[in-house]
Amino acid sequence: MSKDLRLDILNKLDSDGSISDTSATFKDVSIESIIGALKSLEIQEKVGYKTLTAEMWSIEPEGKDQLENGSYEARIFHAVPAGDRGIAIDELKAKYGNIANLGQGKGLRNKWLKKDGNNIVRLVDGVVDQTKLDLEIVNKTSTHPSKDVLKDLKRRNLIKSNKVLSYAVHKGANFSTELKKQSTDLTVEMLHSGEWKTAEFKKFNFDSMGVSPNGGHLHPLMKVRSELRQIFFEMGFEEMPTNDFVESSFWNFDALFVPQQHPARELQDTFFLNDPAMAQSLPDFWESVKDVHEVGGYGSIGYRCKWSEEEAKRLVLRTHTTAVSSHVLNKLAQEPYRPAKYFSIDRVYRNEATDATHLAEFHQVEGVIADKNMSLGSLINFLDVFFRKMGLKNLRFKPAYNPYTEPSMEIFCWHEGFGKWIEIGNSGIFRPEMLRPLGLEEGVQVAGFGLSLERPTTIIYGINDIRKLVGHKVDLGMVTTKAACRLDKMMGKESA
Ligand code: PHE
Repeated sequence: MSKDLRLDILNKLDSDGSISDTSATFKDVSIESIIGALKSLEIQEKVGYKTLTAEMWSIEPEGKDQLENGSYEARIFHAVPAGDRGIAIDELKAKYGNIANLGQGKGLRNKWLKKDGNNIVRLVDGVVDQTKLDLEIVNKTSTHPSKDVLKDLKRRNLIKSNKVLSYAVHKGANFSTELKKQSTDLTVEMLHSGEWKTAEFKKFNFDSMGVSPNGGHLHPLMKVRSELRQIFFEMGFEEMPTNDFVESSFWNFDALFVPQQHPARELQDTFFLNDPAMAQSLPDFWESVKDVHEVGGYGSIGYRCKWSEEEAKRLVLRTHTTAVSSHVLNKLAQEPYRPAKYFSIDRVYRNEATDATHLAEFHQVEGVIADKNMSLGSLINFLDVFFRKMGLKNLRFKPAYNPYTEPSMEIFCWHEGFGKWIEIGNSGIFRPEMLRPLGLEEGVQVAGFGLSLERPTTIIYGINDIRKLVGHKVDLGMVTTKAACRLDKMMGKESA
């Protein structure tokens, strides 16, 4: 035997002309190795082969007992003393138990024994234990020349059959006992050197599945994002520029009428920047913001607290994309009035301990609608249409609190797969205390809503720990194997 089974096969063919049954020639070689070697040789047309299936018989535990100790019928025959009286059936039973029944039945059928009243007596002087002899043959050859014997032994649970694969191998068109390394390609070097004249080429395998392409996969979050963008575009929204991850507290909080004493503005909730720590300046309308905080206006009494310019200049990693909305609404206010719809989907940062459902950074999906005569009813109606496009048909709203919206509503939806109401977003009508200082004229209302991108993504892709989706524990293979996303088909259903 050599190291390469293929060489063994070729040498055997060379000496014997053919291999009639690989299971006989290569007894201790696994069937996987044999088929591997044959396939490789077949591609090079060194061999051809036919698949054989053989039935191999092995001895069962009861058969083993009879092979070693004699068949039940022989054992019972020998237990019956010669002579007219024989032995009482009850005595046989008491001594041999179950073997007595089986052995006696077979002995009667063989006409070795007969019943005489309550006794069993011998009909012959001696017997040949054919069952034992047959079992010996099966034990040695894994089969038996007589099909009937095999059938009978199998019926008696003494042997069982196993199907065994093997191959009959013959020489192929390119037969030789040499294994040349086959070239997969005709190269320039081969043409120059003339090697192409003698080289052996590997045959193309047109049945091969090929290598699956390894590029162009979107991360599940980005799959869901592109679906959501599509819904926004369908509904006439413009995308907001979200490329500034650092904002001043002014845009992230103050312009949104978030009081300077608000707990969200503490270090444990917000990432503040060290270097640079402060914005160089505030936009020119900063005094209107200061006023509305300190003394109010537009029907509001404000927070009646001192408002600090320094505090407003502190730089933060934006904690919500509503900071972007405040910029965009301020720009909108510089133009002559027009109704507008804006959205954004991007990262925000919160100084939170991470666990299965929280990350220090996540994506917010945000929409704002500016129009005259907007009411809470218009917002509810809009949300109904929007979430329906995501496949969520059943919404409920719960009064909530945001410093910048009044009224505010948490959005719940019925999840078919989970069989319960789940919180999916937050929404509200922006306060005049926010809108007027930004420059929006009276009579223009702005409704807004936000949700996390991670929530629908984990629901759709059945991911139970958000850290499997983002961060250093991410299995990159997941990016290539997760299905394409159709929000309307996948939300609200339990997913794989
Ligand atoms: N910014 C809010 C949040 O962080 C979402 C929101 C956006 C709420 C717009 C109302 C209006 O959850």
